Amino acid sequence: MLATLAVIGLLAFTAPAAAELKDSVVLRWTFIAQRVGVAQYWAYKQSKGNAAVNADLASAFAVHSVLARTNAALAPTLLDGPLYDEVAKSGVSEAVRDASAALGIKIGIDIATASATDAGLEVSYYRPGYPDSLARDNEYVFTPEQIGAPRDFLLYPNYANGTTFVYPVSKIPGLAAPYLKAPFKFGTPDFEAENKVVLEQGGTYAPNRTAYDTDTARFWLGAVSGSGGQGSAGVTGMVQNISIALLPDTFTPEQQAAFFAKLGTAFYDAIIAVWYVKFKAPRWRPITAIQKYYNASWTPLLGTPQHPEYPSAHQGIFGGGWSVLVRELGGKSDFTFTVKSDWPNIPDRTYNNLATAAAEAGNSRVFAGAHWAQANNDGFALGKAVGEYIYDNIDKVIYGKQSALKW
Ligand SMILES: *[C@@H]1O[C@H](CO)[C@@H](O)[C@H](O)[C@H]1NC(C)=O
Ligand SMILES: *[C@@H]1O[C@H](CO)[C@@H](O)[C@H](O)[C@H]1NC(C)=O
Ligand SMILES: *[C@@H]1O[C@H](CO)[C@@H](O)[C@H](O)[C@H]1NC(C)=O
Ligand SMILES: *[C@@H]1O[C@H](CO)[C@@H](O)[C@H](O)[C@H]1NC(C)=O
Repeated sequence: MLATLAVIGLLAFTAPAAAELKDSVVLRWTFIAQRVGVAQYWAYKQSKGNAAVNADLASAFAVHSVLARTNAALAPTLLDGPLYDEVAKSGVSEAVRDASAALGIKIGIDIATASATDAGLEVSYYRPGYPDSLARDNEYVFTPEQIGAPRDFLLYPNYANGTTFVYPVSKIPGLAAPYLKAPFKFGTPDFEAENKVVLEQGGTYAPNRTAYDTDTARFWLGAVSGSGGQGSAGVTGMVQNISIALLPDTFTPEQQAAFFAKLGTAFYDAIIAVWYVKFKAPRWRPITAIQKYYNASWTPLLGTPQHPEYPSAHQGIFGGGWSVLVRELGGKSDFTFTVKSDWPNIPDRTYNNLATAAAEAGNSRVFAGAHWAQANNDGFALGKAVGEYIYDNIDKVIYGKQSALKW
């Protein structure tokens, strides 16, 4: 495996350089914050046919407006300077500047208002139903590495009641139903087979994990500290940069905005679907099962994220974005591209097929010791179902107009 990838890496240097997306107002703000695509896209849509407005500038104001309202601390430095730059760069009249600002700010307020009334921002009092000492097989309890005493910290259980941007909230219970049945139980042959792999490849002590695979766990987490939340943020940045490298340089800023609206929405809506399954049928983590039944001193290679195991959030988010990218590329897979990771001191990796990279990203969560393979496969499939829907229906359902998720 290692040798094959090295050969692929060498061949990549002879392939023609990809004609990646051109620098634009859309990309500049996408780098400031991921998942602002919907604000940008709405600005282009609502500017259409309105000569009083500069669409590029409206999109910059729309992103600034969302971010300044939801992350006020960023406003003085990270947000205001780039906005002044966009205004200067646009060279428009004061009247056009003000009309563009008014449109962008209204879009930002609409998005911020919708998110303020979304149950995804409410406090959730979810806790496992019993203390760790009475843990039941297959069911989630706080893991030994979790922060705090008593251990009681979970990441964002409120997302399980959040509202999606585009994927119909009413379809989530149906989408989730097969996953809630959780066929994957302790003592079954499937569980034993997959757990054997985690024992051999996912621990701090892992006799069958290669050095390349150890790097894979870190590479595709893409975060510095190794927490679940940052890891998921890391992998979205990686998919975003892969998209920029592979999409054609003929894309206008408006086409770029349409793409990033789908990508960002797929990441977010996939989180809601994944969290719904995670918290409706909360499953134990490998560290809980393995320490109880297989090896009391086993520890995973990387930190176990503070939420139930099934399905994998990393893979749900990744699968949502990945499926949007694959659709945008016409379903083709044999592209050559190089990926960077935010994890320090890991060399860039070059792939010559999207499927190879996706498979490696999935395995990364087993090498990390955070998941069994089924959670990765099912997380990816769940995210993909959400991403595919969004790709075809971005203009149908609009954030803030859906009723709450039926719990
Ligand atoms: C979601 O909301 C329902 C209904 O209010 C509640 O019973 C459930 O505990 C919530 N889930 C989480 C994870 O907070
Ligand atoms: C792990 O290594 C052991 C001993 O070398 C070998 O018997 C086993 O088949 C390996 N398992 C995997 C999944 O490679
Ligand atoms: C994505 O690209 C931007 C711009 O080149 C860079 O600043 C950022 O670190 C990259 N992110 C990742 C995860 O590679
Ligand atoms: C159990 O886990 C510890 C800590 O990782 C490791 O040193 C030990 O070899 C493991 N025991 C077995 C039988 O694998």
